[in-house]
Amino acid sequence: MAAYETHEYDVLVIGAGGAGLRAAIEASATGVRVGLVCKSLLGKAHTVMAEGGMAAALANVDERDGWQVHFADTMRGGQYLNQWRMAEIHAKEAPARVNELEAWGALFDRTQDGRILQRNFGGHAYPRLAHVGDRTGLEMIRTLQDHGIHQGMTVHMEITVTTLLKDGERVAGAFGYDRERGRFRVFKAPAVIVATGGLGKAYKITSNSWECTGDGISLAYHAGAQLKDMEFVQFHPTGMVWPPSVSGILVTEGVRGEGGVLTNSEGRRFMFDNIPELYKELVADDAEEGWRYVVGDREARRPPELLTRDHVARMILAEVKAGRGSPHGGAFLDISWIKDRVPGGAEHIKRKLPSMYHQFKQLADLDITEEPMEVGPTTHYAMGGVKVESDSQMTNVPGLYAVGECATGLHGANRLGGNSLSDLVVFGKRAGEHAAEHAREVGPAVVREDDVEAAAAEALLPFDREDAREGPFQLQQALQQLMQDNVGIIRDEADLDRGLEALAELGRRAGAVKVHGNREWNSGWHTALDLVPLLTVSEAIALAAKERQESRGAHTRDDYQGKDPEWGKVNLVVEKAADGSMQVRREPIEPVPERLAKIIEEQG
Ligand code: FUM
Repeated sequence: MAAYETHEYDVLVIGAGGAGLRAAIEASATGVRVGLVCKSLLGKAHTVMAEGGMAAALANVDERDGWQVHFADTMRGGQYLNQWRMAEIHAKEAPARVNELEAWGALFDRTQDGRILQRNFGGHAYPRLAHVGDRTGLEMIRTLQDHGIHQGMTVHMEITVTTLLKDGERVAGAFGYDRERGRFRVFKAPAVIVATGGLGKAYKITSNSWECTGDGISLAYHAGAQLKDMEFVQFHPTGMVWPPSVSGILVTEGVRGEGGVLTNSEGRRFMFDNIPELYKELVADDAEEGWRYVVGDREARRPPELLTRDHVARMILAEVKAGRGSPHGGAFLDISWIKDRVPGGAEHIKRKLPSMYHQFKQLADLDITEEPMEVGPTTHYAMGGVKVESDSQMTNVPGLYAVGECATGLHGANRLGGNSLSDLVVFGKRAGEHAAEHAREVGPAVVREDDVEAAAAEALLPFDREDAREGPFQLQQALQQLMQDNVGIIRDEADLDRGLEALAELGRRAGAVKVHGNREWNSGWHTALDLVPLLTVSEAIALAAKERQESRGAHTRDDYQGKDPEWGKVNLVVEKAADGSMQVRREPIEPVPERLAKIIEEQG
């Protein structure tokens, strides 16, 4: 072990997106030693891709908003599979976290009277998303990073963690390598927080960036943590579909929040065709009423484009399937029509959606102030992840915490847009605080030399193998295609069975993959090692998706259409059995206490 660069901390945070940074800030503030490890460069986290805003019931635009409404909206959006306590904490604490970001220097768009401006987003009863144009995630990361670097934490950039180390039952640290030189690193810590983000790279079409390979979920699973709700993968309804090289890139929901409408090849607003029962009372009868809502008419109801993401994504797919899609297999999203109805015209659109304007101009040679965009569903977010205790974010492995997208519980079967940015800071703060307290209580953990050597040998396996016929890139593409085809938006048992078989076969092939060259900046080696988390999370998604025999939220089964009340009573938990195989089991949902059930009922 002496041969490997070794660092010792009280709290080790893996991942430097919004959740990891906020956790590291909080832990550092308590005076413990904090190490922050990230796979990319500091500031390049995928959080920057949450564009449209951060949900918090500040009630700056509509004073009827409050934590109770936000709580009820989040539970309804999650189809009541959420951990109610997380939804309660989140709704209550999000406003304080937004104000704190502002105090730390974050810039937000403003109301006429100088308060933080909030915009409409799907599933939220009132304009609730604090935002800065369509670059809110970027502003959050900039602020947390600027604030964080003065807190005394040590940052290790471009490190991939491959294994969590344990001391008996409890966590003891992590093992990884630096991507630049390929040298191994050992991090010792009695409290470890995984905050590595999502798993979108398990799919071919995704809004996620290259780091989103499910690392934290896989690390925690292999260390004995339970996963939950893995069947729920969010397909954001609006990703770019053309040109092919940019397919999947996010087109923010902020476009619809500002008045963007979806039409099919016949020019019809198909979203009016099907309004789910849960939202019947809330959705406008006609285009005019929907527009009045967008511009702030209290009496008006919201446009159907602001229904939840799961529903909008399915509606677009249905149009494509019926032969009424756009030329490249999506739908049309038009914001240009508002320019005749708002002061400032095209300039208003550019000011509200600057990134979207530049994205389409540069990548698709299209001016969104003049023409509709072509959009279609893209893999965006994992509602499932590591199961955590609601107040502290601790997993079932002592000392191991999970937070942000790689944790689960807040969003249930479907996340409302904008709830992810607030999730990161609300629970990031809590995880940092609890992890620091835990580290103080339990003291240093012991890392065994044998475990480190085993982790090193495992990481080097792809170099040691005999020449193989396939390289890691080929396998990664095969996995992404198979998840897209067999475990995508619309699922059925036969496809899922084929998917599981194919995943098992891919696992065997990945076990024989050979990489060439040396360890410095070896992207083949990096990709070979990323196959481990990708295969792990893919199997968990497919297993859980097969088990849940109903359609709810983001999980749609062609062979089990509609919700089944019995399935509304359970979450699915995925864990490693004693023989090393992956198992899925049903776990009853803790009932919502009376005081909160009353709020849900009152909010309709
Ligand atoms: O559409 C968006 O801007 C994405 C935001 C989110 O996923 O929360």
